[in-house]
Amino acid sequence: MAHFLVTGGCGFIGSHLADRLIGDGHRVTILDDMSTGRLENKPLLAKLVVGDVADPDAVHQAMQGVDGVFHLAAVASVQRSRELWAETHRTNLSGTVTVFEAARSARNGNPVPVVYASSAAVYGDNTATPLREDAATRPLSAYGVDKLGCELHANVAWAIHGVPTTGFRFFNVYGPRQDPSSPYSGVISIFARRVAQGEDVTIFGDGEQVRDFVFVGDVVRFLVKAMERQSQGAEVFNLCTGRPTSLLMLLEVLQELCASRVRRLHQPARAGDIRVSIGDPARLRATFGEGCRFGLLQGLSATLTGE
Ligand code: NAD
Ligand code: UD1
Repeated sequence: MAHFLVTGGCGFIGSHLADRLIGDGHRVTILDDMSTGRLENKPLLAKLVVGDVADPDAVHQAMQGVDGVFHLAAVASVQRSRELWAETHRTNLSGTVTVFEAARSARNGNPVPVVYASSAAVYGDNTATPLREDAATRPLSAYGVDKLGCELHANVAWAIHGVPTTGFRFFNVYGPRQDPSSPYSGVISIFARRVAQGEDVTIFGDGEQVRDFVFVGDVVRFLVKAMERQSQGAEVFNLCTGRPTSLLMLLEVLQELCASRVRRLHQPARAGDIRVSIGDPARLRATFGEGCRFGLLQGLSATLTGE
């Protein structure tokens, strides 16, 4: 049995991860400021420390004696990073540096490994299809710049301070527990709820923007595998399926699954929005021996039933 810190563990992805770790018999401490996290997401057996990931004292305390850290706390919305630039920067970049710094000496003065969430947003307007990890990073949003900053600081964490890290460039993650009520939430959670209830959906732009949607169950599996693998360096992997889905296609599939037709309302594309985002999972597969297992139909069905 090991003891892990999960930052952002009351959020969408973090809570699925915490469930898995508890299910595997590990001890879990969660550090979360509850800004988008929910108490009902917390596994009963996990210990919750309510605190800010950019507060060195809170992070230091929460990390004492752990065997490893999963760092998922962030303001996950690209749109939010446009509205609250400096505030989201503090969480998304300073928060990560604070985690890396505390990880230097978390276990009896020695470094512990950190597995953390980067994002496909680091590629920005690079529309190479599919995007390999060595493709040029040209982030368009403050969110994407901060995630790239996390990766650069991960190099420092390893080269200067001996903290091993694994960063995953998550593409668009979806699944149960992603908040459908927030306009800042992922598009699948919003569309799934609205189509199921027969309500209009808003499409920003023409709906031909393309994403690589990844089911949360796949994300959790790779996070755990990365911790088990014990990186010796500062590694970065795409976490993606390699399969393209446009918003219009997504809406079609959801309407089929729900046997419901809804109206599409179009608004101008959001500033900083990415047009095409498809990842190449080759490095992921080569390193971890497998790729994502869930197809879109299976993942959407699980999302609609909440399982
Ligand atoms: P989420 O909003 O559900 O979870 C984020 C969690 O972090 C929440 O529980 C929130 O309360 C917490 N948090 C936010 N600011 C904090 C702070 N200052 N201190 C402590 N806790 C704080 O979002 P999610 O979709 O689960 O995202 C998890 C991670 O994955 C984030 O780092 C996000 O940037 C990254 N990511 C998500 C996606 C996606 O499609 N959902 C894609 C790429 C990367
Ligand atoms: C998402 C993640 C981000 C992650 C990135 C990686 C969320 C909230 N954001 O950003 O954390 O780093 O993937 O690729 O999980 N849209 C609509 N109507 C809506 C909502 C959205 O048309 O009601 C459009 C958006 O303008 C965008 C697309 O759907 O073109 C996807 O939006 P969204 O789910 O917010 O994700 P990303 O911005 O791609």
